[in-house]
Amino acid sequence: MATIALSRTGAQMPTVGFGLWKVTRSTCADTVYNAIKAGYRLLDGAGDYGNEKEAGEGLRRAIADGIVKREDVWVTSKLWNTFHAYDHAKAIAKHQLELWGIEYFDLFLVHFPISLEYIEPSVKYPPEWWGLDGKVHPANVPMSETWKAMEELVDEGLAKNIGVSNSSGAIVLDILRYARIPPQVNQVELHPYLTQEGLIKFCKTHGIAITAYSSFGPQSYVELGYKGTAVSLLEHDLVSQLAKKNNKTPAQVLLRWAVQQGLAVIPKSNNHDRLLANKDVLDWNLPEEDHKALSKLNINLRMNDPSEIDPRLGIFA
Ligand SMILES: NC(=O)c1ccc[n+]([C@@H]2O[C@H](COP(=O)([O-])OP(=O)(O)OC[C@H]3O[C@@H](n4cnc5c(N)ncnc54)[C@H](OP(=O)(O)O)[C@@H]3O)[C@@H](O)[C@H]2O)c1
Repeated sequence: MATIALSRTGAQMPTVGFGLWKVTRSTCADTVYNAIKAGYRLLDGAGDYGNEKEAGEGLRRAIADGIVKREDVWVTSKLWNTFHAYDHAKAIAKHQLELWGIEYFDLFLVHFPISLEYIEPSVKYPPEWWGLDGKVHPANVPMSETWKAMEELVDEGLAKNIGVSNSSGAIVLDILRYARIPPQVNQVELHPYLTQEGLIKFCKTHGIAITAYSSFGPQSYVELGYKGTAVSLLEHDLVSQLAKKNNKTPAQVLLRWAVQQGLAVIPKSNNHDRLLANKDVLDWNLPEEDHKALSKLNINLRMNDPSEIDPRLGIFA
């Protein structure tokens, strides 16, 4: 399994992982177990995905059956927006570890550089974007406070590596000003409709690895009611053409496009055949002209923009 070495610890983060967002809760344990059996060695979870307990069950079953040891599987999770206050961040990370049934996360990310009012987990978990009154309630917790808690999770051995997600250069630079432990990874939306060359260059310069999410562009958002006009990348003429030419599937072409730039990918699928196929993106190359042609599809189309939930959350404005 190809890996990307993180700069601070030298930890080897698998280049291809399995994404857990919208993995159906009732089948999640089996899906995770089968993903590990099929060779996946990174699970990308988050408190917000609401399936950490089930994902942990699948992982622990794979360990109990002798398929892997805990140290063979990289577990990423994320801190949700309502838990940015120092005490809340530390407490919820411990709760999330309990849900997974593991002792540490290989990587723990601040999910969004957005702080929202705390909701007691016993009242609603995961809390999502809205308060109990159905409205969005931003909270004034500075990232420096959240980051201090993240660093202490490392000190306590609860997270081997820490990082950010959905973070532009500006917020990363701010964190770097005070960080004792700098962010090692930035997990961002990135596909041929949103190529983010500037952010890639910025992160590489600062020794921060990038994990690309939503590699298939709009596809992931169709089930959430996406009504945009951009054609699915999986059905785009150019992607289909290049798939045929390279004897691969459109999904593999899109994943390979990211991997070939030194990025990690974390495709999600509730379908075992697609899950299997999505792994085959490591031992072949897209010719340079094909790679360039795909990059030219860029239209800065961002599917995951919190300002659509509430304009006060315009982190990409
Ligand atoms: N940090 C963040 O804020 C953030 C945001 C979004 C996502 N993520 C992470 O990134 C992971 C991946 O992103 P994503 O879930 O948005 O989207 P994705 O992996 O780009 O796409 C998933 C969608 O594509 C379909 N699909 C998967 N493999 C396919 C294939 N080979 N051929 C055709 N269709 C295929 C899936 O349907 P089926 O399930 O039916 O196959 C699903 O509808 C997430 O699971 C999550 O772990 C992180």
